Amino acid sequence: MKRVGVLVGREKTFPEAIINGINEKGRGEVVAEYIKLDGVRYDEPPKYDLVIDRISHEVPFYRATLKRMALEGTIIINNPFWWSADDKFFNYSLGRKLGVAIPKTVLLPQKDYIEGIVSESLRNLAFPMDWQGIVDYVGLPAFLKPFDGGGWKNVSKINSLEELLTEYNKTGTLCMTLQEGIDFDQFVRCYCVGQEEVMIMAYDPRKPYLSGEQYVHNPDYLAPELAERVRKDVRTLCTALGYDINTVEFAIKDGVPYAIDFMNPAPDAELASVGEFYHNWITNAVIDLVFKRLNEPAQKSRYRWDALLNPEPVQAFAVASASEQQVRTITPKPDGTAPAPASKKAPAKKKKTV
Ligand SMILES: Nc1ncnc2c1ncn2[C@@H]1O[C@H](COP(=O)(O)OP(=O)(O)OP(=O)(O)O)[C@@H](O)[C@H]1O
Ligand SMILES: [Mg+2]
Repeated sequence: MKRVGVLVGREKTFPEAIINGINEKGRGEVVAEYIKLDGVRYDEPPKYDLVIDRISHEVPFYRATLKRMALEGTIIINNPFWWSADDKFFNYSLGRKLGVAIPKTVLLPQKDYIEGIVSESLRNLAFPMDWQGIVDYVGLPAFLKPFDGGGWKNVSKINSLEELLTEYNKTGTLCMTLQEGIDFDQFVRCYCVGQEEVMIMAYDPRKPYLSGEQYVHNPDYLAPELAERVRKDVRTLCTALGYDINTVEFAIKDGVPYAIDFMNPAPDAELASVGEFYHNWITNAVIDLVFKRLNEPAQKSRYRWDALLNPEPVQAFAVASASEQQVRTITPKPDGTAPAPASKKAPAKKKKTV
């Protein structure tokens, strides 16, 4: 029997639908449930084959627990290591390199710093900043938004240099980006599941949350060629980031889909918010993905430490001294710990090369 655990916040309909769907399809061979956690031991045996994570971005204890589960071979959707390392600014830069249209974006030094960081600690920062140069590059109107955020928190539309400084001065210790505003003709939010299945949703961000008017079910909303480009861009971005569940948002202007937000590894899927059609689509897509991932042969070296814990011999390259390179074969002991070093000879000290 395989076990699937679900880690959730306040949402109800989506996790419930996933759990019920997996249990129905699994017929006792695959069983899904909400995870219950107490203190987590560092040598805790694995309990789940797969975990769907919807909330660890808000709860560091969950994130740390998931990393530990990954160490035991549990498949985590989405990868907790990458999610921890990821940020929107890196993603914009990556998207641009991959040929996806991205509005011009600048990363800004923080306004404030944690206690103990004083002017002397920040000698690497230019001061005063070239605000005019930044605004000239990005253009106006622009959007000031956190480099790692969600739920529209601390997002503001900027129409002038004065407005930028006023809003920036309110951002405290948050790290912000300034992004070219796209005066969009159309807007879509796209689910992507398994880095493959894409659902384009006509979405109006100007309508209020839960108004029932944000998401519109209209399969012909985008012209076929544009829809094809959007699907391709969505797969490109989600494959590059490695997220198995994500949404990608595009502001579309003059037929060009600009990706403005694609770091949403726990996207909204609640019935009351996205509507029945999209709720059912994402539920079924995630259930199918769970069975697909569970049936895949165990991947070798999903994480770097896998190679170190793998009982097969692995080759490691070690620099023994400044002049001599040595290749040795390490076979980890059956308990997974590393063997004693082959040579006890202390490595030659490196010369200082300042
Ligand atoms: N470059 C842009 N051009 C036009 N509109 C933008 C741009 N960036 C953000 N917006 C507007 O601001 C909204 C929130 O921005 P964004 O999606 O980047 O933030 P978020 O906090 O991740 O929001 P959510 O969690 O709802 O996705 C967008 O839905 C869009 O309406
Ligand atoms: Mg968004």
